[in-house]
Amino acid sequence: MAINLDSDVHRRVAVLDLTHLKRDFIAQDEFISIPDFLPPSILNEVLTASENTTELIHRNYIPRHKKGGSVSRYDIDCAAPVIAGLYRTPTLRHFLGGICGRELNLCPPNDPHTYALYYYTEPGDHIGYHYDTSYYQGARYTVLIGLLSAPSCQLEYQLHTKNSAHAITQASIELAPGQLVLFNGDKLYHRISPLAENERRVALTFEYLTNTRMHPFLHFVSNMKDSIAYFGFRQVFSGAKNPPADT
Ligand SMILES: [Fe+2]
Repeated sequence: MAINLDSDVHRRVAVLDLTHLKRDFIAQDEFISIPDFLPPSILNEVLTASENTTELIHRNYIPRHKKGGSVSRYDIDCAAPVIAGLYRTPTLRHFLGGICGRELNLCPPNDPHTYALYYYTEPGDHIGYHYDTSYYQGARYTVLIGLLSAPSCQLEYQLHTKNSAHAITQASIELAPGQLVLFNGDKLYHRISPLAENERRVALTFEYLTNTRMHPFLHFVSNMKDSIAYFGFRQVFSGAKNPPADT
């Protein structure tokens, strides 16, 4: 049965308390977790589509920081377009913007991280503590959605790390299938703990911006980071030659 992304998302967000979410988001230094966010209809569609990307996973290893696999927006556009459709769903973007209290924009078509899949498939796959630094002139808001979870692979995070007037608080979540987290990339210090034997974790990420402009030098820095740590040089520097137009 065909799904209507926007109306399915609308039905889901209509029963959520935006005022409550917004209050918690601010209290948690621009971080929020929403369990069971994705309706089963969309979760199943995204899971099925993600199976088309397993041959496209780019694995990378940075000693003592990161080991795992990623699929960039360019490959998702070809192999799993329902993910691109979900990212662009107006109701989702406006709902997330309502929590942030800011208008959120889609990324430019040449950003390989606009939407991506993260695959943790081999023992020890992980990423060390980091911020999702914004290289844009505006803030970068990261969305993570669990597709397949693994008990060993926890999203561990620290709140208020850049707020000297507030004690740092630490917590972790497993990011269950359908669960969504939203955070300001420059504020949340976070990592994914190492995958154990006989486990597998798949997560989806979306990136939204308050200002889509970026200095050319920072664009180069961002591309180098995405090449080395995520998608490889071929994807990052040639993948955007003919990207689909964003609306
Ligand atoms: Fe991150």
